[in-house]
Amino acid sequence: MHWLDQPQRFLFFTGKGGVGKTSLSAASAIALADAGKRVLLVSTDAASNLDEMLGITLQNVPVLVPGVPGLACINIDPDVATLAYRQRVIDHMGAAASAAEKAAVTEQLSGACTTEIASFDEFSCLLADAQSSYDHIVFDTAPSGHTLRLLSLPKAWSGFLANNDQGASCLGPHSGLKMQEARFNQALAALSDPTRTAVILVARPEPVRCRKLPVPVRNYWR
Ligand SMILES: Nc1ncnc2c1ncn2[C@@H]1O[C@H](COP(=O)(O)OP(=O)(O)OP(=O)(O)O)[C@@H](O)[C@H]1O
Ligand SMILES: [Mg+2]
Repeated sequence: MHWLDQPQRFLFFTGKGGVGKTSLSAASAIALADAGKRVLLVSTDAASNLDEMLGITLQNVPVLVPGVPGLACINIDPDVATLAYRQRVIDHMGAAASAAEKAAVTEQLSGACTTEIASFDEFSCLLADAQSSYDHIVFDTAPSGHTLRLLSLPKAWSGFLANNDQGASCLGPHSGLKMQEARFNQALAALSDPTRTAVILVARPEPVRCRKLPVPVRNYWR
């Protein structure tokens, strides 16, 4: 576990399904907490087994891990994040908005795109908060495809906001999203800074059986 010698503030554990991401991220987070650091362990996987492993009930707010002083755990649940995001957008519309307008926005904010931006919104808060009380934030991620998408979102959404004044219906009022542009840019800066972020690719060693095949000798020049 040499990545713990001089650990960056943000550690991402990623890799294929069932290779040991949750085991390693939890072990690393516990090792850092045991060394006196304040650590937040984040699950971005709806099917995470961190709760069973640590004996806690995962929530979308930090939960202290019993028996490990300094360690808290949080789950970015896409459904919970979407509900909270939708509510924030509706609150942002203010008292002047009619029930029909609010219903229309609720309808618009019910697709996969909203789920994505809502999860990313939570994720970017953790990356952009330089004032947070955590020395280290350790991410136990979902199997690779989902994580690669999540990691690419700061760039994708920052680019979208820079080039688009009209917004997209699945995001809600664009002005609200524009307000978060600075945070998205801070998240992007943190992700692309190797002194602040490390990605640990977890893999399972497997013996590869090589069978010597007779190689036909041909002279292609004749
Ligand atoms: N270093 C290891 N040696 C042997 N077994 C391990 C090791 N690390 C994890 N395991 C076992 O492998 C299984 C999967 O581990 P774990 O849940 O940590 O993987 P994961 O990558 O998080 O899986 P998922 O993709 O489903 O989230 C568990 O039964 C765990 O006990
Ligand atoms: Mg896991």
